[in-house]
Amino acid sequence: MGKLIIEGGKKISGEICVQGAKNAVLPILAATVMANDISVLKNCPYLRDVDKTDLVLERLGCKVIRENNTVTVDASGMNDCVICEDLMREMRSSIVFLGAIISRCKKAVVSMPGGCPIGLRPIDLHLKALKSLGVEIQEEHGYIKCKAEELCGGNIHLDFPSVGATENAMLAAVCAKGTTTISNAAREPEIVDLGRFLNCMGAKVCGMGSSVISIEGVEKLHGAEYTIMPDRIVAATYLAASAVTGGEICLKQVRPKDMGAMLHVLADMGAVLKIEKNSIVQQAPRRLNSVHTIRTMPYPGFPTDIQSPFMAMAAVAEGTSVFVENIFENRFQHVDELARMGADIKVVGRSAVVRGVKKLQGSNVVARELRGGAALVVAALCAQGVTTITGTDFIDRGYESIEKYLSECGAKIRRE
Ligand code: UD1
Repeated sequence: MGKLIIEGGKKISGEICVQGAKNAVLPILAATVMANDISVLKNCPYLRDVDKTDLVLERLGCKVIRENNTVTVDASGMNDCVICEDLMREMRSSIVFLGAIISRCKKAVVSMPGGCPIGLRPIDLHLKALKSLGVEIQEEHGYIKCKAEELCGGNIHLDFPSVGATENAMLAAVCAKGTTTISNAAREPEIVDLGRFLNCMGAKVCGMGSSVISIEGVEKLHGAEYTIMPDRIVAATYLAASAVTGGEICLKQVRPKDMGAMLHVLADMGAVLKIEKNSIVQQAPRRLNSVHTIRTMPYPGFPTDIQSPFMAMAAVAEGTSVFVENIFENRFQHVDELARMGADIKVVGRSAVVRGVKKLQGSNVVARELRGGAALVVAALCAQGVTTITGTDFIDRGYESIEKYLSECGAKIRRE
């Protein structure tokens, strides 16, 4: 595994064009298998998870070509409906292939998914949703075997607005016979992006972005051309990176309207924000203020994915901040590493109490999952001295060339 070496204390100032969204591109790539046709996806970020998804597509018999940020998938040669253990273990999001493959082939076999070690991450809601559409499911030796003579529209109620379960239900429902209603659906902007792409393929999905999604089944889908939405979590990470260093940053190709909860916190911490339709300019104060309490919630609440990078900001803010993690039970793994850098953080159950210190110290730290790794980058940028971060494979799952974007904005950062 590689290392990132960061010499802290340089202002992060300049302009960044934000990459396409990981959590949108993965389900959309999965959806391409549903048409016996070619789809063209623009604004696909260069990420390990995207490469892995391309590999899944190739193993299923699709042809995948990348030219810069455009990925073309020809699913006409699809000849398999099995995703084997090595690929499923590496990336939890491969579970969204289940709905897409069952829709195309009427059967699918996948192994139990892996992914970042941030909690138990069961898939009961995914399976319950598919069963409501007539899918028969057997779980055997760590594999999930699904088949359906015919997919039939139905009423799906999710006990929790799971992003992945909502996506799987949408994928399986678009070509089911009749109408499907998904209630208590996830409302994340990435769900809207998937629904829009499916509609470009000829599906009839409406209500995405609200908690009730209605889908009228269509007979078949065709290929489509689509531009992936910007990554709101990456955008907020760069805002945090600039804010801890007292810099001024301009983000281009963003959608501030998807980022309300995060932008409110930044403003509460003292950042001055100038927000336009597709750009954000942020001027950071000399020292950030603490925030009262941040509770992670399903969208439009505060995203669990930005909890750790924002905790790195709170670690150097003036005063005490409290974070309550409501989505994943094991998402405080960055705390011990931040503590090595001199942060004062106490964890009690799902809450972390952060007493801001004046300065963090450069140290050797380990990224143990994707966003926790990003938090260490944010902390290192404002720390005194040099920080070495190992475990960078995790960071590369979600951040395209993080060292390039940050060094263009003044960071002293290199990869070894
Ligand atoms: C997606 C995102 C991830 C983000 C998360 C929450 C992708 C590729 N990943 O993950 O970055 O952190 O949404 O916004 O889009 N749950 C169950 N049973 C299930 C499914 C989920 O109990 O069948 C629970 C999970 O354990 C977790 C909560 O629901 O506590 C939220 O999970 P979910 O929304 O499904 O997250 P993912 O789709 O895995």
